[in-house]
Amino acid sequence: MQLKVLALGGDGIGPEVVDAGLKVLECAAKSIDLVLDISEDLLHGAAWERYGTFIRDKTLEKARASNAVLVGAVGGPKWEHIVRDGGPEEQDGLMKLRHHLKTFACLRHARVHRALLDRTAFKPAILEGADIMVMRELCGGAMFTTTRGITTDSDGIRRGFDLNEYRESEIARFARVGFEVARRRRSRLLSVDKSNVFMAGKLWREIVSDLGREEFADVELTHFFADNAAYQLSRRPADFDVILADNLFGDILSDQVGAIAGSLGMLPSACLAGSPAKQISECPAIYEPVHGSAPDIAGQGIANPIGTILSVGMLLEYSAGQPDCARRVDRAVDAALTAGFATPDLGGDHTTSQLTDAVIQYFRKV
Ligand code: IPM
Ligand code: MG
Repeated sequence: MQLKVLALGGDGIGPEVVDAGLKVLECAAKSIDLVLDISEDLLHGAAWERYGTFIRDKTLEKARASNAVLVGAVGGPKWEHIVRDGGPEEQDGLMKLRHHLKTFACLRHARVHRALLDRTAFKPAILEGADIMVMRELCGGAMFTTTRGITTDSDGIRRGFDLNEYRESEIARFARVGFEVARRRRSRLLSVDKSNVFMAGKLWREIVSDLGREEFADVELTHFFADNAAYQLSRRPADFDVILADNLFGDILSDQVGAIAGSLGMLPSACLAGSPAKQISECPAIYEPVHGSAPDIAGQGIANPIGTILSVGMLLEYSAGQPDCARRVDRAVDAALTAGFATPDLGGDHTTSQLTDAVIQYFRKV
């Protein structure tokens, strides 16, 4: 099998972690006779500096012609004040890529890593077994609305607004993937909303409930208000399986679950344009660590590569159809951590390439 991968390092530590991820991908591909066709391009700030745009049409075309896009991170103080015509997707190269590839279903995975237990704020007994998939709707809601702006009222007072809106078809297609992902795990889905306040939340709850009753009766469905979900997550993280959240709540909760993994630098994601089962042939997906571009440590070679390496694992699982190889990546990461390899965010003093090389060494053994 041949796999076309487009690598977009982006900004800050992005290119460093993508290099690390590609090294692991190359090693893993060799072990399963997967032929890689890798090309690279610029994203967001890096693209702006070179081409005066956050992402070129050519890059979007290349992404569409790929099986998978591996992204590092985007953003930095240098580009924060640039305002472009058009919707939110025009303001950010990564958001434009998500919008263009219609990767509405984002899976963000957080689990306990034994070797990092004492890096977390939790008592070990509370974290025991914690393994959470936060599913974030990635192409709609307030974060992609075109009803947004800053205007001035007749009394001279300014008003900022971003409409939080969801069509029922957007909720249904995303919830369907959520139920399918839950089925592949422990068959428990927790849907999060603010249906006690928001109309969009009421529609969200209704659509998710109907779909659960009509098509996924085997999946245990629960609903929490988003604020309560955040509270319960910090009290008893081991009780959660799959969390289904809109774009905004999912953005927040996926950072929160970073706390169980020992560092936000550990979290991978897969952004899919459909069911995980159909991913292999049908549509390009985006894989990226959940962390940001960390401009403060960029260029020092000390960024944590694990979020990207685990994203490569998700790529192997969903875009190459190689879940066993993905589990090997997971085990290699745990073995490297257990052996004491750790970047500064994990309390160690290993470099990005030392930790990456350790993962590769263990990948060959596990
Ligand atoms: C994320 C990030 C992005 C988002 C930013 C960089 C636009 O926070 O991937 O979680 O909000 O989606
Ligand atoms: Mg975020």
